[in-house]
Amino acid sequence: MQDYREFLAEVLISEEDLKRRVVELATEVDADYLNEDDPLLLICILRGGMIFLTDLMRYMKVPHQIDFMAVSSYRVGARASSGSVRLTLDLQTDIRGMNVLLVEDIIDSGNTIAYVLEYLETRQPKSLRVCSLLDKAERREVVVPIHYRGFEIPNKYVFGYGLDIDEYYRNLPFIGVADTGKLSVPG
Ligand code: IMP
Ligand code: MG
Repeated sequence: MQDYREFLAEVLISEEDLKRRVVELATEVDADYLNEDDPLLLICILRGGMIFLTDLMRYMKVPHQIDFMAVSSYRVGARASSGSVRLTLDLQTDIRGMNVLLVEDIIDSGNTIAYVLEYLETRQPKSLRVCSLLDKAERREVVVPIHYRGFEIPNKYVFGYGLDIDEYYRNLPFIGVADTGKLSVPG
């Protein structure tokens, strides 16, 4: 595997800026759910949202449960997401009557989150909201509601802090932009 320094074009969001924003988001979420009597469930969409979820929940004070889902989208190239999404790992929790907050790493075309929202609605949660660390708004193909948004970012391929390049580099503590021309495996 290549060292990320070979293709890192720039650090887009530093570790410090990530932390500051995640604390702010946790505070916003806390304020909104503080007076709710019904249980709050954070749902992480694997695998990209994992680091964000674990940081966000540690800064939250409102009691909550967590659960996981995984979806796969048919990909044209290794790094191009596409319209066709399917569920590969379902929830363990019965969400009927719960306040559900979906925690995502990035919303790109919007197809993944649109699919997941439609699927979860059929299970009749009390409320359903979306928290996404990153928003690549320029790439949007379907309109999706984002109630909590960390950062709007330009249309560039990013990695680190949960986001991968071919399943690697999720552990990096910052969000970097990849110079895809310098990647040994082309997307
Ligand atoms: P969407 O369905 O097009 O919104 O794609 C969302 C998913 O594609 C995200 O949950 C990520 O897993 C992946 N993705 C989109 N853009 C990037 C990126 O720049 N870096 C890494 N993964 C990405
Ligand atoms: Mg993802």
